[in-house]
Amino acid sequence: MKKQPGWALPNLQEAQKRTTKESHVERSLFQIPDEIRKIGQGKKYFLRTYGCQANERDSETLAGILEQLQFTAVDKAEDADLILMNTCAIRKNAEDKVLGELGSLKRLKRTNPDIIFGLCGCMAQEEDIISLLLEKYRHVNLVFGTHNLHRLPELLYEVMTTGKACIEVLSKEGDVIENLPVKRFGHHKAWVNIMYGCDKFCTYCIVPYTRGKERSRLMEDILDEVRQLKEEGYKEITLLGQNVNSYGKDLHLEGGFARLLEETAKIGVERIRFTTSHPWDFSDEMIDVIARYDNIMPFIHLPVQSGDDEILKIMGRRYTREQYLTLFHKIKERVKNCAFSTDIIVGFPNETDEQFEHTLELVDECKFDNAFTFIYSPREGTPAARMQDNVSLETKQKRLAILNERWNAYAHEKNEAYLGKVVKVLVDGASKKNKDVYSGYTETNKLVNFTANNVKPGDIVEVRITACKTFSLDGEQC
Ligand code: 5AD
Ligand code: SF4
Repeated sequence: MKKQPGWALPNLQEAQKRTTKESHVERSLFQIPDEIRKIGQGKKYFLRTYGCQANERDSETLAGILEQLQFTAVDKAEDADLILMNTCAIRKNAEDKVLGELGSLKRLKRTNPDIIFGLCGCMAQEEDIISLLLEKYRHVNLVFGTHNLHRLPELLYEVMTTGKACIEVLSKEGDVIENLPVKRFGHHKAWVNIMYGCDKFCTYCIVPYTRGKERSRLMEDILDEVRQLKEEGYKEITLLGQNVNSYGKDLHLEGGFARLLEETAKIGVERIRFTTSHPWDFSDEMIDVIARYDNIMPFIHLPVQSGDDEILKIMGRRYTREQYLTLFHKIKERVKNCAFSTDIIVGFPNETDEQFEHTLELVDECKFDNAFTFIYSPREGTPAARMQDNVSLETKQKRLAILNERWNAYAHEKNEAYLGKVVKVLVDGASKKNKDVYSGYTETNKLVNFTANNVKPGDIVEVRITACKTFSLDGEQC
């Protein structure tokens, strides 16, 4: 891929800027011009998604667009005319996975010289990744970012008709686009975006740069989508945002996320979840609503990142350890049988043994049901990446192992408390190995493998728990 005039390239400094301008709702921005309508006829696409639920949901949009263009999905990259990688930039190892995959797929060009290699998502928003693609991954010939999914038809058309590579990455987020197609991957569980972007700027995190400013969808648009999903038979809805608690702030919406959550609950879908919540603006009104509605699941993902005040401050998290614990205990008291998961970063620049110990002590106190634990990964362009770091990789790895052992023990303990109990499980499907064994999730988001007869995906069934492991439960249908 050679740099060409007319390309729009990313700029992380531009992406950092925030305006007070309210975003508009675009109801007809996505259009497929007539000459493009059938460009996918007879052609196959392979779409791979990395990273978080926001990317999963974006991939549903990408698949929806590609199928409107008459492309057909395939499960193997080898069978595809278009390979599209929807990527994640949160840590270096996430990027390395994508680059490794892209490198190994290059061979497909030998048997299919017209194959299109597309890269989109958060990695596309990074300047150093684009430079790397231009230098070392010249077979990649289509790149677009997180703000211009709606441009996929035109960009594909350009690559397919000119044979030239095309890069279009916008550093400024656009408006909220409401008329994008969607091909839902789940049949009884659905993701619903409630907002885009993040304004928190935690000092280690690339997301506010790759996903732009916080923009909320209008409440009526969200509720309409939930109503429609209910009519289509969906049993579980997950409201999505990088920080759902901020929902509506940009719209000056009275009641904010608590109000949206309540209105969603009233629609009557069996299960409502939401992710992710920042502890900083988790309001009492939100806790009240969660406690009052049986169809809002008693499971909260509440990322803490560190248990040490000094580290939290340098991370820019806007809460102290004490404030986190107060919130945690408040939710636990008010929401019956609530389960918690968290995110924790070890080895933030200059983290001392004592500071790490504070994180372990917080884990001892909270006894999380689940945790996502990471070694800090410097992200070019973020404030933390410019900090000196005196912690060796070996120390960081040791801390991660100690932390994992610690939270795993509590997760096991939490699961043991389920032994002999009856829980409600939303069935995902049958095991590939044994068709009498099904799997699904409890209201508290525990994975259960259970024996049953005559159940189908989407059913909510009662299961008695007979055995427990660290990451799952076993049971039998009652
Ligand atoms: N290094 C390591 N982990 C990170 N996360 C975000 N940025 C980084 C980084 N630079 C983690 C945080 C966040 C989760 C989605 O990813 O724990 O909550
Ligand atoms: Fe990243 Fe912090 Fe925003 Fe989460 S809240 S996406 S960790 S900047």
